[in-house]
Amino acid sequence: MCGIVGYVGGQSALDVVIAGLKRLEYRGYDSSGVAVLADGGLAAAKKAGKLVNLEKELVGRPLPAGATGIGHTRWATHGGPTDANAHPHLDNAGRVAVVHNGIIENFAGLRAELAERGHELGSETDTEVVAHLLAESFSSCGDLAEAMRLVCRQLDGAFTLVAVHADEPDVVVGARRNSPLVVGVGEGEAFLASDVAAFISRTRSAIELGQDQVVEVRRDGEGGGAAGVSVSVTDFYGAPGEARSYRIDWDASAAEKGGYDYFMLKEIAEQPKAVADTLLGRIDAGGALRLDELRIPDSVLREVDKVVVVACGTAFHAGMIAKLAVEHWTRIPCETELASEFRYRDPILDARTLVIAISQSGETMDTLMALRHAREQGAKVLAVCNTNGSTIPRESDAVLYTHAGPEIAVASTKAFLTQLVACYLVALYLAQVRGAKWGDEVRDVVRELSEISGEVERVLETMEPVRELARSLAGKRTVLFLGRHVGYPVALEGALKLKELAYMHAEGFAAGELKHGPIALIEDGLPVVVVVPSPRGRSVLHDKIVSNIQEIRARGARTIVIAEEGDEAVVPYADHLIRIPATPTLLQPLVSTVPLQVFACELATARGNEVDQPRNLAKSVTVE
Ligand code: M6R
Repeated sequence: MCGIVGYVGGQSALDVVIAGLKRLEYRGYDSSGVAVLADGGLAAAKKAGKLVNLEKELVGRPLPAGATGIGHTRWATHGGPTDANAHPHLDNAGRVAVVHNGIIENFAGLRAELAERGHELGSETDTEVVAHLLAESFSSCGDLAEAMRLVCRQLDGAFTLVAVHADEPDVVVGARRNSPLVVGVGEGEAFLASDVAAFISRTRSAIELGQDQVVEVRRDGEGGGAAGVSVSVTDFYGAPGEARSYRIDWDASAAEKGGYDYFMLKEIAEQPKAVADTLLGRIDAGGALRLDELRIPDSVLREVDKVVVVACGTAFHAGMIAKLAVEHWTRIPCETELASEFRYRDPILDARTLVIAISQSGETMDTLMALRHAREQGAKVLAVCNTNGSTIPRESDAVLYTHAGPEIAVASTKAFLTQLVACYLVALYLAQVRGAKWGDEVRDVVRELSEISGEVERVLETMEPVRELARSLAGKRTVLFLGRHVGYPVALEGALKLKELAYMHAEGFAAGELKHGPIALIEDGLPVVVVVPSPRGRSVLHDKIVSNIQEIRARGARTIVIAEEGDEAVVPYADHLIRIPATPTLLQPLVSTVPLQVFACELATARGNEVDQPRNLAKSVTVE
């Protein structure tokens, strides 16, 4: 939701923090701010709107130079996106500054108590109480890390907090509960950040913090950090905490636009590689699957009698497709559920249930809460995740990482394709260990999956007519999407992309549902995208959707038909025909989704929208 950076080192903290915030701006862009410790005091600046507004402010009103600082880019929860509500928040004396991601649920009570004790709070945020509480605690203990521990014990909710105090100019302190915070350890410098992207250009050594931990990074201290910087981790009560060090396996260029106008364009183009990378090392020389990282023993997988997939947004659409693959290949009943609804309906789970939690960021709060609920009921949880060391894989029994590399654009693209690949692998692996499929059948699908990356590449090479079509529709108000079987989640995904990027009314329907209501929406010239299943395999579905296309066209719809090469039956009814390579039925979403991503991106551009940072959104949704 929000992006946080903290820095201690030998460089200009302002420059380092601003550079970090630029890489985290995808997490939230309602306002931003920085605080720097310099000349025995604390100087701060903050501004509503995008980071560029803050940069302009800093040109007009430069901050003094200092080598310790913090920064924040915000996705507003409590209080609108104004200058006053922007972070950092300071205490009344202006000695402590704090930035925050998450929600302090008991802030109203704390605020009232602070007011009674004479504190003046000037913003509408939940965060500001923390600055005042830190100031109070610091005045009694004289140690920022201890003050943070005392304050965290009073807070309910989810939070990452990073703070500095003018009396400790060599220290930045952070804390986390149910919200991400990583430490970067460089040569004589250290970073606290919501995401490694903030410091990847300076170091690839990171430390993953656990739940309910406080970290102090100190210049010229002693301890486990690099020369000149120490890092110490405790729990909220001061007991030494365990934290895992790891090396970040992607380099700085992965978080750059690399010549593309938008991250989204780059990420769409990276899909063939992302798909291939997600298969890498998971297929043995004989073509069988090897998922060594699955820490759930085969004996447990053999006993599974139900699979439940939980996820949100685009990841949920991947989960809908996973259901079809799991049931088809393993014959185990599988349900896919919106993570935000899951735990509120008292789902039936036990030790024989395998829950698959899909999340690009690994931080989505709804998904995290769903998996915690599942584990409490005794179910085994397998995470499908793109972010090493994030909370969801850490709290799961096992994880299968998607190797998409960092996804910066808010609209998910390459993560979706790799989530599909990972889910296919899980489904096939289940089929393999349970003997639901013969070895040669598994190998056949694995071989087909290995060929898909080349097919995604071919789709990308033929996208110019799709872009042209998208531009021609920039003035439309509504676009509908239809699909059946695996094409239905693809239709939902196409509609979601268009909503979030082009701010247009877009809806996806199961084509069979048309006659039960949605067909009333069809009017002259209404663009309707139809994802057509292969005429091979489930030809009965193909024939039915061809009828659906005729029905809507007869009522004036402008039909945009996505169909595989060689499918001639759709030609007479397609106002626009988008060809995709022929693939096995279940794998078709890997190619049919790509034109819809390109379509939404181009339409948003034509409408003058911010492609990477759509309004009101943020990349990882760390609040419920
Ligand atoms: O990080 P996650 O995969 O858990 O995120 C889930 C959704 O918030 C995400 O897919 C969202 O729907 C995307 N912005 C869609 O493009």
